[in-house]
Amino acid sequence: MTDSGIENLLKEERLFPPSQAFASTATGTADLYEEAERDFVGYWTRQAKERLTWFKEPTEGLDDSNAPFFTWFADGELNISYNCLDRHLDQGGDKIAYHWVGEPGDTRTITYQELSDEVNKFANGLRSLGVEKGDRVAIYMGMVPELPIAMLACSRIGAPHSVIFGGFSADSIVDRVNDQGAKLLITCDGAWRRGTVVPLKDNCDTAMEGTPSIEHCIVVDRTHSDVSMEQGRDIWWHELVADQSTDCDPEVMNAEDLLYILYTSGTTAKPKGIMHTTGGYLTGAATTHALVFDIKPDTDVYWCAADIGWVTGHTYIVYGPLTNHTTSVMYEGTPDFPDKDRLWSIVEEYNVSIFYTAPTAIRAFMKWGVEFPDGYDLSSLRLLGTVGEPINPAAWMWYRDHIGPVDAPIVDTWWQTETGCIMISPLPGVTATKPGSATKALPGISADVVDIEGNSVPLGSGGFLTITKPWPSMLRSIYGDDERYVSTYWSRYPGVYFPGDGAKIDEDGYLWILGRVDDVMNISGHRISTMEVESALVSHDAVAEAAVVGATDDLTGQAIAAFVTLRGTFEESDDLHEELRNHVATKIGAIAKPKSIIFTPDLPKTRSGKIMRRLLRDISDHRTLGDVTTLANAEIVQAIADQAEAQQAKE
Ligand code: WTA
Repeated sequence: MTDSGIENLLKEERLFPPSQAFASTATGTADLYEEAERDFVGYWTRQAKERLTWFKEPTEGLDDSNAPFFTWFADGELNISYNCLDRHLDQGGDKIAYHWVGEPGDTRTITYQELSDEVNKFANGLRSLGVEKGDRVAIYMGMVPELPIAMLACSRIGAPHSVIFGGFSADSIVDRVNDQGAKLLITCDGAWRRGTVVPLKDNCDTAMEGTPSIEHCIVVDRTHSDVSMEQGRDIWWHELVADQSTDCDPEVMNAEDLLYILYTSGTTAKPKGIMHTTGGYLTGAATTHALVFDIKPDTDVYWCAADIGWVTGHTYIVYGPLTNHTTSVMYEGTPDFPDKDRLWSIVEEYNVSIFYTAPTAIRAFMKWGVEFPDGYDLSSLRLLGTVGEPINPAAWMWYRDHIGPVDAPIVDTWWQTETGCIMISPLPGVTATKPGSATKALPGISADVVDIEGNSVPLGSGGFLTITKPWPSMLRSIYGDDERYVSTYWSRYPGVYFPGDGAKIDEDGYLWILGRVDDVMNISGHRISTMEVESALVSHDAVAEAAVVGATDDLTGQAIAAFVTLRGTFEESDDLHEELRNHVATKIGAIAKPKSIIFTPDLPKTRSGKIMRRLLRDISDHRTLGDVTTLANAEIVQAIADQAEAQQAKE
């Protein structure tokens, strides 16, 4: 046990090299690593010039004279919507930008030309309401085509947008709108979710009682709900655009002008407004989208099944795919409505070739059973991706075996709201994959695993993930709080970006992300990642999903408390309890054997699907439960607490 380290206990020996067939046509090639290694600024500058259309090409690359306030391509000028739309229209205006699928079953097919027309009309509408370059616009919508249209229209006129996830409450809208002083709010009357309407406009009405900066609220009529419209303030989208022209001059933006603010949670209650700028962000988005997903714009149908309210949707539903002239699927609803086969029916219908989702979704698919994907022809798929949390090797293998053809590469992509684009991922066709490892930093990205002092750990050990060189799509600051930007990301190891994740680096130099550093337990002086124990649990046939926390323990400092959801046909019993504990001991070692296992029908999750271990720690330590308002399923927490108490009484 080193002082620095996070124990490296789980061994994964499987290695999947790319197939010859895939490698022979792959978009990304091994020489990109060498090129970037020689001159990373030169590599990114080449990407910026080749992939984007500039009004004025940059002569500057990276400026690090005021670190950590880095700039990229600072004398370049461009417009994002021009890159996503206008430049494709001469040759490819008829090409489909989005196959949009509504939850109730309605669909829309939107070509690049149609998208451009809608964006320009709405951009003119925004200008008619007095929105100018630099004004902030808040967006609180469901997954309807008007959402990317609104974002692109903002980018066209140089108004930074801030998308607030449609599952958030009125209070969250107030916090975010006030933090940035947004002038305008765009919403829908309601959003479809599992057959019922989420009252988005009502939430905005409540929020607008506390947001003095908002002058107007634009409302899309999505669900034909009965909503109140305040005269002079509230305007229907369709009325605003009715008489607008389909021509709208794009604003000439500097590469370092603000494109958007996206709020993300940190260790305190106040969300951080992550700032992304124009030229560097789009360079990162377009480059990684093309390389990591092996995009063939003429033939691929690409589906990132995320919500645009999160960064994954910003970069990989809107900006990356449109810059690369890709045809995407965009789906409004949940994967289990009206039934658990919904996603697979969409894959079959649209011949989706690239599919990108989160481990939490994959574990849900596993729990539901193979009969749902098995009922469909998924042979159009040729590449699968995951993002958002460490993927357990068992879930990775299930994804490979039951969704993709077995030789389809799986790209496990590590990145953050802050990084703007994928940082660590296999390059499909080049990198041999290992289930559960995001493999290595992409060309142009430099990652390292370090100990508490900041020294690189030897291969085969664990520590803290760091990014050692700036990259174009990096966050520029936290809105209104430069100090917090510096202290959160740049102070732990001076000069180096600290993402807050633990990682290990194996003998082959592969990176294994272990989760947030605060998800690391300390058992008898050994630091063990919650994720490693979870992976061991999930590798047992009976287990669908598991969450593990360190509970306070007099003897060992912390003891491992596990929370387990069983697969359909298995039932909880004392025997199974013992069997699972022993299973972990066999997989990892006695040190990692959970002290307790609680069986529960579900785990507490945020609306983006992340397990809230903080609440499980509260339960394990018999503390008053912390804030549950950001949970998608708050009711489960009390049920688990009751179960824990009953179990303890039994012991
Ligand atoms: C985690 C989502 C392991 C990580 C794009 C990171 C991952 C946080 C992975 C960022 C992955 C994301 N493997 N962990 N492939 N991808 N994470 O800001 O802890 O919502 O710091 O961005 O998710 O979450 P965020």
